[in-house]
Amino acid sequence: MDTFQINPVSLIRVLSMSLGLTMEGVNMHHIRTAMLCKSMAEHMGIPTDVQQQLVQAALLHDLGAASSQSERHTLLAADREHELGTTIYSHADAGYALLRDSRCFSPLADIVRMHHDRWDGGNPSGCSGNAIPLESRIIHVADRVDVLINSQRPVLGQTGDICYNIRSRRGTQFDPLLVDVFLECSATESFWLDVNNPGYADLFFRQISNWGQKSFTLSDVMDIAELFASLIDRISPFTATHSRSVSGVATMLAAQYGFSETERSMIRIAGLLHDLGKLSVPNTILEKRGKLDPAEFCIIRQHTYYTYRLLEQIDRFEAIAEWAAFHHETLDGTGYPFKKSAGSLPLGTRIMAVADIFVALSENRPYRDGLDRESIERIMYDMADRNKIDRRIVDVLFDNFQKAYGIVRSAEAMPHEKQLREPHAAA
Ligand SMILES: [Fe+2]
Ligand SMILES: [Fe+2]
Ligand SMILES: [Fe+2]
Repeated sequence: MDTFQINPVSLIRVLSMSLGLTMEGVNMHHIRTAMLCKSMAEHMGIPTDVQQQLVQAALLHDLGAASSQSERHTLLAADREHELGTTIYSHADAGYALLRDSRCFSPLADIVRMHHDRWDGGNPSGCSGNAIPLESRIIHVADRVDVLINSQRPVLGQTGDICYNIRSRRGTQFDPLLVDVFLECSATESFWLDVNNPGYADLFFRQISNWGQKSFTLSDVMDIAELFASLIDRISPFTATHSRSVSGVATMLAAQYGFSETERSMIRIAGLLHDLGKLSVPNTILEKRGKLDPAEFCIIRQHTYYTYRLLEQIDRFEAIAEWAAFHHETLDGTGYPFKKSAGSLPLGTRIMAVADIFVALSENRPYRDGLDRESIERIMYDMADRNKIDRRIVDVLFDNFQKAYGIVRSAEAMPHEKQLREPHAAA
C-alpha cells in the first residue's frame, strides 16, 4: 500500500480548487489568499516548515463554508466582516470541526478556527493578540485583502484604497505588525500583479511543491477523501451519506471482481470523491423535489466534468479519476459529460456507475423511503436491457444484495461526527 506516494501539494491544490467551484467555474479565492500569505511570510523570514503549514491552511481556510454556496457568496461578496458580526465565525468553527478529526490535517484545525479572530479580542475562541496563532493572523489579513480586490477592474488602480482600508484596521481587527508587513511587501506592482495573474498560480504551486514535505500514502489520501466526502454529503440532507455508501458498495463489488488491496483502496477513494464536482451545484438545485427543469439539469450535468478535471490533476490519480468521474457515462454512449461508450469505460468505472444507481435507489431520503429489492431490481435490469449499465455487474450486485443493502443502511445509521451534522456554532 505504501508504494503509492504523492506530493501533498498535488492533492491540496485540487482540494483547494474544489472549494472554489461555482456554477460558472472555479474562483481563485483560496489560492490567491495562499499566495498573499506566502509573500508576507517570506518577507518576514518565517521558517519553511511554518510557511508550509500556513500555506496549507490558507489553501483550505474556508472549507467550513464549502457546502453552502450562499454562505460562500456572503463571505466573498464584499468585505463585510464587520457587518456579519458573530456569523463570520460559523464557517471557521465548521472548518475546525472538520479538520480536528483528520489525521493529516488536524494541525491546521486551530489555525482555521481563528482565521477571522480580531487582534483586539471579543472572539468566541477567547483569544486575542499574540494568543491567536500567527498563521491565523496572517491568513486574516490576506483573506481580507483578496476580498477587497475587484477583479473586474485593473488591480494597480485599487492598491491605494486597499492599503488605506487595511491600515485603518491596524491594531483593532488586525495585528499591527502584520499590517506593516503587508504594507511593506505590497509596495511593488509585482506583488499585486502576481496575485491577480492566474498564470502565476502555476509557478506558485511549483515553488511550494519543492518544499520537501513528507509524501502522502494511500491511507493518508483515504483520510483526506473521507473529510471531503463529508463536505460533499453536507451539501444536502437528501444525500447525507451518499458518498460513503457508494464508496462502500463499489469496494464490495471490486472485491468480488478480485481487485487487489491497493486497487480496493483506490476505488474506495474514487467512491468518496465521485461527486466532488457537486460543490459547483447550488444547494437549491440539489434539494429540489420533483423533476429538474432543463436549465437546472444543465448545471447538474457539470458535476462529473469537474470531478474529472480536478482529480486528473493529482499525481497517480489516473485510474481513480476515471473510476470516480465517469459514473454518469453509459455503455451506449448517451451519458455525460464525455459521451464515452462501452469501449472506453473500464471495469472500475462500470462498477461505480452500478454502485451509484443502487445507492440512489436504496437510500432513504427525507421525502421518501429507500425502494425495496424488487423495485430496485426492476429499474436496474431495465437499464441493463437498454445498454446503459453492465448487466454482469448488476448480476454480481444482486448475488450480494444483502451485503450491499447493509452497507447503505449502516452508513445511514453511523454516528455523524465525521459528517458534521451539528449546527454551526453561531448560526
Ligand atoms: Fe473565512
Ligand atoms: Fe476566505
Ligand atoms: Fe453523480
